[in-house]
Amino acid sequence: MAMQLKNKIKKRTAHIAVIGMGYVGLPLAVEFGRVGYRITGIDISVKKVKTLNAGKSDVDDIKDYDVKELVDLKRLICTTDFSPLKKADVAIICVPTPLNKTKDPDVSYIIAATSEISKYIHKGQLVVLESTTYPGTTDELIVPKLEEAGLKVGQDFFVGFSPERVDPGNPKYNTQNTPKIVGGVTAACLDVATYFYEQVIVRVLPVSSTRAAEMVKLLENTFRSVNIGLVNEVALMCQKLGINVWEVIDAAATKPFGFMPFYPGPGVGGHCIPLDPHYLSWKLKSLNYYARFIELAGDINSHMPEHVVELVLDALNKHKLAINGSNILIIGVAYKRDISDLRESPALDVIRLLQERGAIVKFCDPHVSIIHMDDNPDLKVTPLNEQALRKANCAVIITDHSNFNYQWIVDNSKIVVDTRNATKNIINGKEKVFKI
Ligand SMILES: NC(=O)c1ccc[n+]([C@@H]2O[C@H](COP(=O)([O-])OP(=O)(O)OC[C@H]3O[C@@H](n4cnc5c(N)ncnc54)[C@H](O)[C@@H]3O)[C@@H](O)[C@H]2O)c1
Repeated sequence: MAMQLKNKIKKRTAHIAVIGMGYVGLPLAVEFGRVGYRITGIDISVKKVKTLNAGKSDVDDIKDYDVKELVDLKRLICTTDFSPLKKADVAIICVPTPLNKTKDPDVSYIIAATSEISKYIHKGQLVVLESTTYPGTTDELIVPKLEEAGLKVGQDFFVGFSPERVDPGNPKYNTQNTPKIVGGVTAACLDVATYFYEQVIVRVLPVSSTRAAEMVKLLENTFRSVNIGLVNEVALMCQKLGINVWEVIDAAATKPFGFMPFYPGPGVGGHCIPLDPHYLSWKLKSLNYYARFIELAGDINSHMPEHVVELVLDALNKHKLAINGSNILIIGVAYKRDISDLRESPALDVIRLLQERGAIVKFCDPHVSIIHMDDNPDLKVTPLNEQALRKANCAVIITDHSNFNYQWIVDNSKIVVDTRNATKNIINGKEKVFKI
C-alpha cells in the first residue's frame, strides 16, 4: 500500500484534497499545485469556493495570479462537496481550531472534517491533520473515526500530523522554505507522510509520534506567548520606574548570546498566539496539572488593551481632556504589521474599551475596510489624511504598518499614543508622543 501511494506521489499522479482553504490550506494547495499535483480544495464556505474558482485569492500572501494559474490549468478546483475525497489519495485537514466561550478547545471543525473523510476512506489513502490542536487529537479523535469502516491504520491507510508554521506577511519564510515537522501514527504512516511533504518543502523533520508533532507546535506558540507576556510585564514595570522599555530591550539585544528580543505591544492577536497555548493548558487540566506560565502570560497579554486605554486616559488628562466625548483615531487595526487579518486583534478590544468610556472612535488602516463590532455598529475605515489627524484629540498607533509616515502622523496630531515604538525615529514632536 505504502509503496503504491509513494509511487503516485513520485509521479505527481496522486490526487490531493485540502479540506479548509484558509490562511493555511490555500498556500499549501498552491505549493502542491505548482509542482504539478491536481488539487481539490474543499471548503464549507460557498463564498470562498466561488472566490477561488474565479481565480482570486483572499489570503494576503497568495496573489490572485497564483490561484488563477492553477484554476486555468484545472489543477485547482474548489468545491463544497466532499465526495471528491472518494478519489483523493491524500487528504489534508486545515480547518479552524478556535476556543469556545469558556476558552476551551473547540475541535468540532476537526471532527466534522474527519466524519466527512470517514465516509470515503479507502485503501492507500493518506490523511494528515495540519490544524493546531492538543497532543493526542490525531490518535484519539481521527484514527478511531477513520477505522470505523473496518480499515486498519498503518496497513490499509495512513495518518499523520504536521503542524503548519506559516507566518503571514513574512517576506522571507513561506510554506515552501519553512522546515516542516511530521509525525505518523505508525512507522509506515510517518514514512509516507514525510515522503509526501518532501515533494514541496525544503526540509522535512520526522518526529517519533503524532503527539510529539502536536506538542512541537504548541511549544513554539507557547514560547512566543510567554515571552511576549514577560516583555509586556517588563513594560508595565518600566513605566512605574520611569524607564524607557524600548531602550532597555534594544540595549539587551546587543548581547550576542543568551538573549532574544521580544517587544511589548497592545496585546496579541491572530489565530495562533492567543489561542494555541490554551489547547495545551486545557489538556493538562484533564491530567490535574495547572499550566502556570501559559495562564499567567495569557492573563498579562489579554490585559494589555486596558493598559493602552489607561495611556490614552493619562495622555488626554495631561491636556485637561476627558475621554468621554473625545475623538480618538486608531492607526492600524490588523493584528500585526502589513497584513489585513483582524482575528483576535487587540485593536478590537481597545476600540470597545474606548467606546465604553464614551470616546468617539474612528480607524485608519490601508489593509482593512470595515470592522464588525459585536455590540456596536460596524466601523468603516477613515482615510488617513491631515483632516482626520487634526480632528482627533488623540491618535493611537496599534499596528505599525510599514507604509505609514510616522513623522507626518506626529506632525499633524495633537497627541499620539504609540504602542509599537513606531515613532522611534521621528525627529520633531517627541513631546506629543506617549509610549507603552
Ligand atoms: N493563520 C495562521 O497563521 C496559522 C498558522 C499556523 C497554524 N494555523 C492553524 O491552522 C488551522 C487553520 O487556520 P487558518 O488560519 O487557515 O483558518 P481559516 O479560518 O483561515 O481557514 C479555515 C477554513 O476552513 C473552512 N472550514 C471550516 N470548517 C470546515 C469543514 N468542516 N470542512 C471544510 N472546510 C471547513 C473555513 O470555511 C475556512 O475557509 C488552525 O488550526 C490554525 O490554528 C494557522
